[in-house]
Amino acid sequence: MTRTTELTADVAEILLSEEQLRTRIAELGAQVTADYAGRQPTLVSVLKGSLPFMADLMRSIELPLRIDLMEVSSYGGATTESSGLVRILKDLSASIEDEDVLIVEDIIDTGLTLNYLLRYLRGKKPRSLRICTLLDKPARRLVEIPVDYTGFTIPDQFVVGYGLDYGELYRNLRFVGVLRPEVYASSE
Ligand code: IMP
Repeated sequence: MTRTTELTADVAEILLSEEQLRTRIAELGAQVTADYAGRQPTLVSVLKGSLPFMADLMRSIELPLRIDLMEVSSYGGATTESSGLVRILKDLSASIEDEDVLIVEDIIDTGLTLNYLLRYLRGKKPRSLRICTLLDKPARRLVEIPVDYTGFTIPDQFVVGYGLDYGELYRNLRFVGVLRPEVYASSE
C-alpha cells in the first residue's frame, strides 16, 4: 500500500466532503466565538483522531485561546468495537483550574471514553467544561453525554478519514467516509 488512492478504494461512500467539513467547522467556530466572548477558553483535544478537527476549529475561533492535548486509548488495536476500557496515555500539560475548558472530540460513539474523561477533567476544577464533537453516533450510546456543540449526527456506520482511523490508517483522508465492512470483517 503506497498511495492514499488505495486507501480511498476501501471507502464505500463519502459521508462528508472536504467542503461540508470546512463549512460546518466555520459555523462551529463562529458559535464558539460568540458563546465565549470576553473569555479565553482552553481547548482540550483528544488525540489522535481529533487532530485535524482541532487544527481547523481553533483557527475558526476568533478569540485568544489556549490549547492542550490528551491522549486516551479506548479501542484495542484494529477493532471497531469499544472495549469500555479507557487509559490515559498523555495527560494535560498545564492546570485547567478556573479555566473555561472546551473538549474537542472527533466522534462520540458509546460515550464511554468521554464519560471517563468528563469525570477526570471535572476533578481538575475548571470554571466551565463543555464538549464539542465533530461527529455524533447517537444510535450506539451507552451513557448519556451532555454535548454542547455537534458538527454532524451520523448513522451507525464505521467511518474513517479526517483524523479517524481503522488500525491507525486512513487518518489523512480529507473527507469522512464509510469503511467497506469487508475491510474489518477480514480481521475481526
Ligand atoms: P466511544 O468511547 O465509544 O464513544 O468511542 C470514542 C472513540 O472511539 C473515538 O474517539 C474514536 O477514536 C473511536 N471511534 C468510534 N467510532 C468510530 C468510527 O466510526 N470510526 C473510527 N473511530 C471511531
